[in-house]
Amino acid sequence: MNHGFIGFGHLANAIYEGLREEEDLRFGYFARNDKQSGLPFFARLEDLLAFSDVIWLTIKPQDLSGILQQLQSFPYTDKVFVSPVAGKSIAFIERYLDKSATLVRIMPNMAVAYRKSVTAFATNRPDDEKVQAVYHTLASLGKVVRLEEPQFDLFTAVFGSGPAFILAYLKAFKDKIRAFDLPETVLDALVLELSEGTLRYYSEGCRSQTLEELIGAISSKGGTTQAGLDYFRDHRLAETADEMLEAARKRSEEMGRG
Ligand SMILES: NC(=O)c1ccc[n+]([C@@H]2O[C@H](COP(=O)([O-])OP(=O)(O)OC[C@H]3O[C@@H](n4cnc5c(N)ncnc54)[C@H](OP(=O)(O)O)[C@@H]3O)[C@@H](O)[C@H]2O)c1
Repeated sequence: MNHGFIGFGHLANAIYEGLREEEDLRFGYFARNDKQSGLPFFARLEDLLAFSDVIWLTIKPQDLSGILQQLQSFPYTDKVFVSPVAGKSIAFIERYLDKSATLVRIMPNMAVAYRKSVTAFATNRPDDEKVQAVYHTLASLGKVVRLEEPQFDLFTAVFGSGPAFILAYLKAFKDKIRAFDLPETVLDALVLELSEGTLRYYSEGCRSQTLEELIGAISSKGGTTQAGLDYFRDHRLAETADEMLEAARKRSEEMGRG
């Protein structure tokens, strides 16, 4: 199957990294200029379209309508369009392309590059064979969740933007241990080991214990962890995290209206 990217920025690169070892998949892209990526570059949109079975709309939300208008001039009924564009619904794309266009809306994250994405999936043609092939391709890049489109805004906040929020928290940890005066690479290595160890503790422990129990097992009455957790509770940091996710969700909703 031939996969064509319209736009070859951060996400397209990550998807390509995740899929490049797959046998039977070939890749090419169209962008405003040749990114010297080593992949075939198509300077004309119609040439990328002719090459591709699956077309990834890996462009920014503000560029989507312009690209969809250009696509209207070319034949595309045998293609599958996959849109990861934040806030843009299948109905939005159908406003530009014929209703017979086969559309998949996804919300992946940058971990597609390591086949560790959590990806939301919706389509207007669930029974189409090519759509099912796209689903299996995405499933090879991590976990895929079929969702109703109104749920994409919350999903985008938690799983699309989520890696940035988790990293922002880890950055606070890293900044705190600058007091040790260690080289930058060592600080990163220490925070990484902390994260990996914690995730391992979570993944092993959650088979038999709740998150509350796992947290409880690290704290003892009157101890250091308890002091930090009391601060966390008293300053309503869980509510603050919820508000952060809500801000991202609302922004996704607004972008859908724009
Ligand atoms: N990054 C993420 O973590 C992530 C996660 C989930 C979903 N998404 C969604 O994925 C989409 C792409 O995000 P991104 O982070 O990959 O953006 P990006 O790095 O800015 O890449 C966008 C690409 O689109 C190209 N482009 C813009 N206008 C174009 C046009 N008219 N014709 C051809 N190519 C054009 C840009 O080329 P130039 O460099 O030449 O301008 C660039 O290569 C967004 O809609 C975003 O909502 C991103």
